[in-house]
Amino acid sequence: MFPALLPTYNRADIAFVRGEGSYLFAEDGKRYLDLGAGIAVNSFGYGHPKLVAALTEQAGKLWHISNLYRVPGQEALSRKLVDATFADTVFFTNSGTEAVELAIKMARRHHFVNGHPERFHIVTFEGAFHGRTMAAVTATGNEKYLEGFGPKLPGFDQVPLNDLAALKAVIGPQTAALMIEPIQGEGGVRTADPQFLRALRKLCDDNGLLLIFDEIQTGIGRTGRFFAYENLGITPDIMPVAKGIGGGFPLGAVLATEDAAKGMTVGTHGTTYGGNPLAMAVGLAAVDLVLSPGFLEHVGKVANYLHQQLGGLVAHHSDIFESVRGQGLMIGLKMKVPGGDFIAAARANGVIVLPAGENVVRLLPPLTLSEAEAREGVALLARTAADMEAAASVAKAAAQ
Ligand SMILES: Cc1ncc(COP(=O)(O)O)c(C=O)c1O
Repeated sequence: MFPALLPTYNRADIAFVRGEGSYLFAEDGKRYLDLGAGIAVNSFGYGHPKLVAALTEQAGKLWHISNLYRVPGQEALSRKLVDATFADTVFFTNSGTEAVELAIKMARRHHFVNGHPERFHIVTFEGAFHGRTMAAVTATGNEKYLEGFGPKLPGFDQVPLNDLAALKAVIGPQTAALMIEPIQGEGGVRTADPQFLRALRKLCDDNGLLLIFDEIQTGIGRTGRFFAYENLGITPDIMPVAKGIGGGFPLGAVLATEDAAKGMTVGTHGTTYGGNPLAMAVGLAAVDLVLSPGFLEHVGKVANYLHQQLGGLVAHHSDIFESVRGQGLMIGLKMKVPGGDFIAAARANGVIVLPAGENVVRLLPPLTLSEAEAREGVALLARTAADMEAAASVAKAAAQ
C-alpha cells in the first residue's frame, strides 16, 4: 500500500517529542545533543523563553489577518532589518524557497522597468542549493532534483564555483543577476573564495547586474556576523533570508536595495500567509536576540573553540575524517568513511549531526550552544569515530 505520508524523505527511524536548550528528547525518553538545529533553523535552541513568550502572547491576540491591511509586526521587523543591514526594503515569506523565488522575480522586474525585458537570466553556481519550487530548483541546477519535472525553466545559467573566467564567458546581454550562497550549505559547506565574491560585486557593478546573496543558511548570526556579507566588505543588492530568522517558526524574507526593488510595485507580488502576526512576533524576538549585546561575540567564541577542537578530532582520527571546513557555527567535516554511516553511529551515541554534499557531515548547532556543550559534542563525535575505527579493525581481523 502506498504510504499515507508521501515518501519523498528517507527519514531516520526516530521521533523527537520535546526539546530543551541544545537537547532533544525522543519518544523513548533518550536525550540527544543537537548539533543540527533542524538544519540551521533552531538557532536559539528549544524553548527559548523570549521566543516562547513572543509566540504565546501573540497567539492569544491574532494569528492571521492577510496582507490587505497594515500588519504592525511587519512594519517593526522590516524597520529593524533595514536599520541593521544594507537593505532599504523587506518582503516577508513563509520559507526560503519562496524568498528565492521573489529574489528572482525582483531581479527580472528591475531590468524590465529599466527597459530591458531581455535581461532575465540568473547565473548560479555548481553545488548550489536554492530550494525546491520550479524556479528555485532550476536555479539549484542539480540534475537529481530536476529529473522528471519537465523542461527546466528558461533563463538560468550555471558555472563552476570560484571560476571567474567561466562566469565572464556566460554573462551576456541576457543576464539579469548572479545568485550565490557565500557558503554553500547543502552543497557541503563549500566556501566561496572571498576574492571571488568581491569580484562578483565588481562584475555586477561594471555590467549593470544585480548581486543576489542567498543567506538563507548563512544569515542571522550563523557565521558569527549578522549576515555573512559583512565578512567580505561588500553588500549584495538582493538577499533572500529564512531559517534562523524564525527561530523554528516558518519565516523567510527578501531584503533589497531601493534600486533593486524598484519594479516591485502594487500587485506585482503577494502571499496569503507571509508576514503573519505570529511569524512577525517570533521574528522580532529572534532578531532582537541576535542583535543583543554579546550574542555574536558568543557565537564567535564558541565557534573558535569548536573549530580548534574539531581540528584535533580530525588529526586524531585520520582514517575517519579528512578535514574541517566552514565558518562560525556552520561547520563541515569532510569524511573518509560514508557520512551517512557516521551520522547514524553518532545518533546512536546521542549526538545529532547532518549530511551535506561532497560526503561532508555538517554541524549547524544552535547559536546559543555553550562551550561545555561544544566540548560534550566533540567528545561524542570522538567516541563515534573510535567506535567506527574499532568496528573496522574487527572486520579487518575477521577477513584475515
Ligand atoms: C541556501 C539555501 N537556500 C534556499 C533554501 C530553501 O529553503 P526552504 O527549505 O525554507 O524552502 C535552503 C534550505 O536548505 C538553503 O540552505
